[in-house]
Amino acid sequence: MNLNKGIILAGGTGSRLFPVSSVINKHFLPIYNKPMIYYPLSILMLLGIRDILIICNEKDLNSFRSLLGDGSNFGISISFKIQDSPKGISEAFLIGKEFISEDNVALILGDNFFYGNNLYQVVEKAVKNNKGATIFGYDVQDPERFGVIEYDQKGQVKKLTEKPKNPISNQVATGLYIYKSDVVNLVKKLSPSSRGELEITDLNKLYLKEGRLSAVTLNRGFVWFDVGTFDAFNDASNFIQNIEDKQKFKIACLEEISFNHGWLDKDTILKNSQKFKGSDYHSYLKNILR
Ligand code: G1P
Repeated sequence: MNLNKGIILAGGTGSRLFPVSSVINKHFLPIYNKPMIYYPLSILMLLGIRDILIICNEKDLNSFRSLLGDGSNFGISISFKIQDSPKGISEAFLIGKEFISEDNVALILGDNFFYGNNLYQVVEKAVKNNKGATIFGYDVQDPERFGVIEYDQKGQVKKLTEKPKNPISNQVATGLYIYKSDVVNLVKKLSPSSRGELEITDLNKLYLKEGRLSAVTLNRGFVWFDVGTFDAFNDASNFIQNIEDKQKFKIACLEEISFNHGWLDKDTILKNSQKFKGSDYHSYLKNILR
């Protein structure tokens, strides 16, 4: 697939999770048995993306580095850039300008959880059809919390609205986006919204105006959570626990994904994961690689 670069936006204050997130950045908090950041990172890896930029707050940089290193433990390359203050999702493309260079790029939000068995095929097709920007829609019961997508009768995107009071549609934009490299130029045309942010919805509206926005619906075979509230934390954790209890596979085991891609061999993974000895995660890795 012609998509080799991915950005994870993992900044922000996590204010909705205070006081829990006042000392520990929310991306390190556990969603069931792994740190939150493992889940979006696993999605980029499942898509075959090995060149990853994580954008985070300055105060959390060392923690990110000690958790994920430079990515070599997972057979990938992780670099970091700082977002000084929460100036919006679209700012990620200004911060990641050199990283993107001339390439297509995927952006995933650090607090988004996706689960579904043919995401690769869905994204591969989307990349092939991408004229500028692609968003991934999902039907939810509480669309007013998100960027809402309205379609015309032909199924084309008609309108995008960020957190509307009275949503006309139940379909919202999830936190996974694909852009051509000209995204950097389009972001430069944006001005901050009333909450002082360069909104991702405003960026996507520019593509919509140019006729270069595609929306792909993730159907009921997918599960998506924006894990930004305590309820969503609980729901996502319970979901993962249920799946992992029923099946013999873990969700978002980064070393396993790397092994399945052939990025790292068994001995290297086992050597690297010695530090997790005594945990269920380590026993799982030993079993799965055997
Ligand atoms: C952001 C976007 C919104 C999108 C959501 C997905 O919301 O602004 O359009 O639907 O992520 O998680 P925020 O996290 O800023 O509330």
